[in-house]
This record gives sequence, structure tokens and C-alpha cells, in this order.
Amino acid sequence: MSRTANAAPQRLLPAIRFTINGKHREVRVPPMKRLLDVLREDLHLTGTKEGCGEGECGSCSVRMNGELVNSCLVPALQAEGAEILTVEGLASDGELHPLQQAFLKHGGAQCGICTPGMLMAAAQLLEQNPHPDLAQIREGLGGNLCRCTGFIRIFESVAAATNVQKTAPSADSALEPTHHAR
Ligand code: FES
Ligand code: FES
Repeated sequence: MSRTANAAPQRLLPAIRFTINGKHREVRVPPMKRLLDVLREDLHLTGTKEGCGEGECGSCSVRMNGELVNSCLVPALQAEGAEILTVEGLASDGELHPLQQAFLKHGGAQCGICTPGMLMAAAQLLEQNPHPDLAQIREGLGGNLCRCTGFIRIFESVAAATNVQKTAPSADSALEPTHHAR
């Protein structure tokens, strides 16, 4: 449940306008309502998930004006005029994004909570660096936590999506996370 809901009648709330996944949208929500809740409750874009709610896990990651942000930390007001991309916007023309295809094929889609954020972080990485090496993949996904299954298949999926050649002697050791909490 939203932490900021029930503050005022909707008609009295300020209109906040932004673009989400290429579509112009307007919502009337409390200005400090979390973008995460606006997405899920007001726009019914439930692909973005809540994990920690404190900016620690990356499950709620979306792209806003070309930056990766934790939507649980972004007040709706801050999204005024922004261009936002959520996991629902990765696919185009009915075709899954190459990252989504790779996650499916290589077992990176392990659970419904962390996967959307992992995909958004990976998409951000590839936008900035289309051919990351394994260390850069680990770094790029460093703000996204898996608390259960592990990171190896996730990193492998990103690598597969970019045709990264595994350069380390052992694929498993190369793909072990360095700074993720487990
Ligand atoms: Fe936003 Fe964890 S739910 S960072
Ligand atoms: Fe999603 Fe571990 S938290 S696979």
C-alpha cells in the first residue's frame, strides 16, 4: 500500500505530467508520493517491483531522463516533465528486448522481484557501453541485489545479450560478484 495515499481529494492535487514508455501521461497524486507507487497504483505498471523500499536493492529501478534511478526514492513531483522507461517499455513491436530474450534463454530470469530491476540496470549499462566486459557487467549491476539464487546466470545473460567473450580462465570465477550482498 502506498505510504502517501489518502492525503487529499484527487481533484485538489496538482497535475504531474511526464512521458512513460513513450506515452504522455498525467497523474494527480500527492507530490511526495513515491514514483514506484505512482507506477504501480496509478498507472498499473506493475512490472516495477518493490524490494527494500529504501534504495538498497534496485528492484524498483527505472530509467528517468537517461539515468537509472530507484523509483522508491523518487517523489512524483521530481518526475514532472521527465522521460521514464520502465520494464514494460523494453519490448518493442511485440518483440522482447535482446536482454529479455537472453534472460529467458540463459536462466537470468530467476524471480519476479529482482528481474525487472536487473533488466533496467542492464539496459542502462548497454546504453552507455554496448560492449561491456564481465567486470563492467558486474559493476553495472552492482546496485541490484539478488537475495536468493545468485548472480552468475544473470551476468551470463547480460554477457550473452552483448556477445561478450569470456576472457577469464574460469567462467564461474569470472562471473562471481565482487561487491553484491548475498
Ligand atoms: Fe527501491 Fe529496493 S525497492 S531500491
Ligand atoms: Fe530475484 Fe534472487 S531475488 S532471483
